[in-house]
Amino acid sequence: MLSRLVNQAHPLGPGAKVLVLGGGYSGRCFARLLNTLGTTVISTRRHPEPDSSDLAFDSTTGVQPSFSDLEGVSHVLCTIPPSLEGGDPTLECLGPLLKNISPVWVGYLSTTGVYGDCQGQWVSETDPASPGQDRSRRRLECEQAWLNSGLPVQILRLPGIYGPGRSVLDGLRSGRARRINKQHQVFCRIHVEDIAGACLHLIHKAASGHAPPIVNVTDDEPTPSAELLEFAAELLGCNLPAEESFANASQTMSAMGQSFWSENRRVSNRLLCKELGYTLLHPNYRIGLQDCLKQDLHQNV
Ligand SMILES: NC(=O)c1ccc[n+]([C@@H]2O[C@H](COP(=O)([O-])OP(=O)(O)OC[C@H]3O[C@@H](n4cnc5c(N)ncnc54)[C@H](OP(=O)(O)O)[C@@H]3O)[C@@H](O)[C@H]2O)c1
Repeated sequence: MLSRLVNQAHPLGPGAKVLVLGGGYSGRCFARLLNTLGTTVISTRRHPEPDSSDLAFDSTTGVQPSFSDLEGVSHVLCTIPPSLEGGDPTLECLGPLLKNISPVWVGYLSTTGVYGDCQGQWVSETDPASPGQDRSRRRLECEQAWLNSGLPVQILRLPGIYGPGRSVLDGLRSGRARRINKQHQVFCRIHVEDIAGACLHLIHKAASGHAPPIVNVTDDEPTPSAELLEFAAELLGCNLPAEESFANASQTMSAMGQSFWSENRRVSNRLLCKELGYTLLHPNYRIGLQDCLKQDLHQNV
């Protein structure tokens, strides 16, 4: 619950003004946390709702905020993914403007996909990135562009993001969930509220001089997806889909699905949780999914 996060989070100082580039799933959650803590937040969307205060930014059409729109911004979070052609769409459009506003902290949401396949071994920020997919190679290029931008950038590497309205519970409810068994395969994940909480925590740590350039933001328990599904079905009190072997399931899987299943790694959160001292609100899928169920039910009443 966001209220629990609000209780454990420390607000930013009174002069802070935060720009969220890409007010999508994660960006919106971070903005909600900050708003609740009393901080001014500006978010961008490609097509802002007419009655919202969001700014328009779409790298593909060249519609973008002006210097006066962003004046006074002290912190920036970028959630916008790489463009299909390669290159970072945000830096290409807004790089000079961001430098002009001189933020004290810039967070860039990346993915743990840049580590590539680790054959189920643990991997941490000190291991070299070794992307195996095109999209992960493009992502690594974006990370490097941000790190070389001259801005005070921190890269947050994320595994699969879940949360209210976007979890295996929704897959089960809609009948789309598949119970696939592939020996030794695990996936890592992070609850969207812990992305927001970690961003705020990293901002405070950076202000006190502790700002490692790359931080994994992932929960404590890499888990096989079938185990997650079994727990979720129990929570919902519904039947499990029939078990499928990976060999059979992969024949009807999208190219994207196949690429996810072709990589197996356990991503360490030691830097974030032990060295930088962030306490996860949802340290494992059991706690996280129970929270999703509560919030999903709350939103539907
Ligand atoms: N989903 C996952 O499991 C996962 C895992 C690891 C990393 N990530 C990465 O983490 C980041 C946040 O994920 P998310 O799920 O919160 O993403 P999301 O909900 O898709 O939000 C992405 C935001 O980027 C904006 N955007 C996309 N293309 C743009 C463009 N060309 N110009 C301007 N704005 C653009 C979108 O605008 P609109 O609001 O107008 O749509 C949206 O606000 C993304 O970079 C994602 O690739 C995701």
